[in-house]
Amino acid sequence: MPQSPAPQASRAPGAAPATSAGRSEWWRDAAIYQIYVRSFADSDGDGDGDLRGVRRRLPELAELGVDAVWLTPFYVSPLADGGYDVADYRDVDPRFGTLEDFDAMVETAHGLGLRVIIDVVPNHTSSAHRWFDAAVAAGPGSPERARYIFRPGKGADGELPPNNWRSIFGGPAWTRLKRPDGTPEEWYLHLFAPEQPDLDWTHPEVHAEFEDVLRFWLDRGVDGFRIDVAHGMVKDPALPDIDDGAKPDLLDGSTRLPYFDQDGVHEIYRKWRQIADSYPGERALVAEAWVEDSERVARYIRPDELHQAFNFEYLGAGWDPAEVARVVDATLAANGKVGAPTTWVLSNHDVTRHRTRFGGPEGGLKRARAAALLTLGLPGSAYLYQGEELGLPEVTDLPEEALQDPTWERSGRTERGRDGCRVPLPWEGGEAPYGFGPQGSRPWLPVPSEWAGLSRQAQREDPGSVLALYTEALRLRREVVAASPGEDGLEWETAPRGVLRFRRGERFACAVNMSAAPVELDGVGEVLLSGGGVEGRDGALVLPPDTGVWFVPGA
Ligand code: GLC
Repeated sequence: MPQSPAPQASRAPGAAPATSAGRSEWWRDAAIYQIYVRSFADSDGDGDGDLRGVRRRLPELAELGVDAVWLTPFYVSPLADGGYDVADYRDVDPRFGTLEDFDAMVETAHGLGLRVIIDVVPNHTSSAHRWFDAAVAAGPGSPERARYIFRPGKGADGELPPNNWRSIFGGPAWTRLKRPDGTPEEWYLHLFAPEQPDLDWTHPEVHAEFEDVLRFWLDRGVDGFRIDVAHGMVKDPALPDIDDGAKPDLLDGSTRLPYFDQDGVHEIYRKWRQIADSYPGERALVAEAWVEDSERVARYIRPDELHQAFNFEYLGAGWDPAEVARVVDATLAANGKVGAPTTWVLSNHDVTRHRTRFGGPEGGLKRARAAALLTLGLPGSAYLYQGEELGLPEVTDLPEEALQDPTWERSGRTERGRDGCRVPLPWEGGEAPYGFGPQGSRPWLPVPSEWAGLSRQAQREDPGSVLALYTEALRLRREVVAASPGEDGLEWETAPRGVLRFRRGERFACAVNMSAAPVELDGVGEVLLSGGGVEGRDGALVLPPDTGVWFVPGA
């Protein structure tokens, strides 16, 4: 199997030095681009993106200037939840390619200086996984069932679920099995869809299996893992009912629940960290943990656990300067205490695209541009979701028959779910599918015709495009920001109401006007980059509403 060397440290000259162990800790300030594989690039025209498509388009991501890519699951899967229902953790689904395609993709990425992070899904398997098949066949009380969470039902005939937990996609979190003759028997737990049975992480075989899965992909040269539902694997052993008022929601970490953020999960990560550290190079682990507050999130990134956790509090802060400032301070402080970098994330495959979330004039485009400068200007690592560099909006009018997110059916067709942020990317040309797949192919979700104008090719030719803004911001981030002494910290500066203004060291400052009126800023040296329409004169400049600017602090 080809194993290409991981890229060397990508810090600019003058950037923070490598640690004493000669490590660059690349993940501390990396820009990491999320590839939702199914919607990125389709090489064979079957309508689904694939690994060959990823490989072919990697040079364009290198050109954009990101440091790493994170690929969502491409493993063998019935795709009941877009691949987060894994039937074989050690192979590629034929729709997405082969292991050889994977190896070739990693080699190309490394050759371009891009690191590769992949998803690992340890909370649940697919119901098509061999373990679940064996558990169903073996019957109650069998060792095969002990790898999952099977329980007898309540009520006279076991007709009621073991407790009142609800699936995050709607409906009960328990499904009752039936024997082939139709006789009902035990129930099994699935925090997500019924096709995603939860594993029992008190079982040693479950630990051993995932440790082996990590090694399998580390041996193939991956630079790290994004850990799906990292806060969910350990359950309160009593499986207690939850309060009536508690609303389990993927995006709502505000309620303490007996199946999220239990202390036992941290033991798992201590072991995983040892495994990652036992490999050459610097392999990084990032947690998807939707938990209560930044102090709780920081527990996942203590020095002997994971390297990073997504900052979902930042994602949820909205277009609200006071709230954004509060979250920035809270997360920097909480992470600082454990010595971990902070991540900044605006969008991913589970949430409404931020351009649409922020709204405002120009359908959110101005705010999205300003938010990019804010996010890429903050100290730490930034996660970009494919298409945000093109300023893509959420597609809110997908035809009902196209919807595939399990949320749609499980909510009784009241919630459309997450397909609107998963629409395939437009790459080039004036005809559907705009370079996503070969001419004439039909993508798994229809691409809006207006997206021809938002294609990468169209934007590459336009210096005022969102793509040009991201490309320049990523370049400056490496060169200027990293060469500004003291850049690791952040210092807020006085600013008019509705404006966030901070500096990082001597050579870099950022201001974002979230108010509805233009504001004047003093103490501005050279303007490095702006979201557009910024007028400057004599150390001062006028910042229009919903606009951001990067500058060298003036006298
Ligand atoms: C994570 C994924 C999401 C998936 C869920 C269940 O939250 O990001 O897409 O549906 O886990 O695996």
